[in-house]
Amino acid sequence: MAQPQQRPAQGVVRFYNFLSEDTSFLGEVLSGLALPRKALPPKYFYDARGCDLFEQICELPEYYPTRTELAIMREHAAAMAGFLGAGCQLIEFGSGSSRKTRILIEQLQPPLYVPVDIAGEALQAAATGLAQQFPWLNINGVCADYTKALTLPVFVGVPIRRKAVYFPGSTIGNFTPEEAIAFLQLARRMVGAGGALLIGVDLKKEKSVLDAAYDDAAGVTAEFNLNLLARINRELGGDFQLRRFCHRAFYDEDKGRIEMHLESLASQFVHVGGERFDFRQGETILTEISCKYGVDEFRAVAQRAGFAPGETWTDPARLFSVHGMIAV
Ligand code: TRP
Repeated sequence: MAQPQQRPAQGVVRFYNFLSEDTSFLGEVLSGLALPRKALPPKYFYDARGCDLFEQICELPEYYPTRTELAIMREHAAAMAGFLGAGCQLIEFGSGSSRKTRILIEQLQPPLYVPVDIAGEALQAAATGLAQQFPWLNINGVCADYTKALTLPVFVGVPIRRKAVYFPGSTIGNFTPEEAIAFLQLARRMVGAGGALLIGVDLKKEKSVLDAAYDDAAGVTAEFNLNLLARINRELGGDFQLRRFCHRAFYDEDKGRIEMHLESLASQFVHVGGERFDFRQGETILTEISCKYGVDEFRAVAQRAGFAPGETWTDPARLFSVHGMIAV
């Protein structure tokens, strides 16, 4: 493993904003609410309030994934760093607060870290914190929607042996399996042949555990879900009455996924962007899915996107998994 002394004393921190104008927020809300089965893209959860609520979700007693994945990282970070190897350009999608990343960076000592996140302010705060903890680290922060194809800025002057995508948090589960394959194909193209993927994937388990994880007793997840409507009101001039909607989240065992909805408590209509949307009582807006996998099931998905399964690390209770894979 490379020694920190070989790094420049002071790393370079840059930020790029690749987000297109927020016209896409309005456009995607209007088209999502016009669907026969209404749906909204989950990426819009993450305004400042949404980021804050999400950090609270990660601390909830019922929400086991974050603390379990952190424990797996602490236990196996050295093995993961060994798997990825020295000289990595570490690209992270949905970097958020970067807590897991710190553990990895400490072991891996990558010459370049490229966090990509749609939440610009959270990205800057997290990258600034990392720059303080790892003064030698070069950082290219990219504010972007990584569900779309993306060309990363090149960092001239830093020799890179391998590109590695780090995708923690089981965010891959927020895609359908078909979308997950398409997304991993983009990641595969980004890292190139011989590139690496380190990905956190939540595992299938008992329904009661999963139901509780997405519908906590304190109501934080409900508030997170409803904040999407509050954000539409704030930013797009919508007139959703938040008390007339409620949070519904449940594990569908047949589909192997959590579905998170906002359910209309009454027959009502709502305006957004000069358009009117009618709701029946009990009608829902699908705001997010969270697919759960078996270890082999996920390996098969990644394989279809051009990654050869390498190693899988799990916790003793097999709640969560982290996979290391190499692009073929
Ligand atoms: N991707 C994680 C998951 O599916 C975290 C997450 C995203 C989440 N949105 C959420 C957790 C909404 C709870 C509620 O579990």
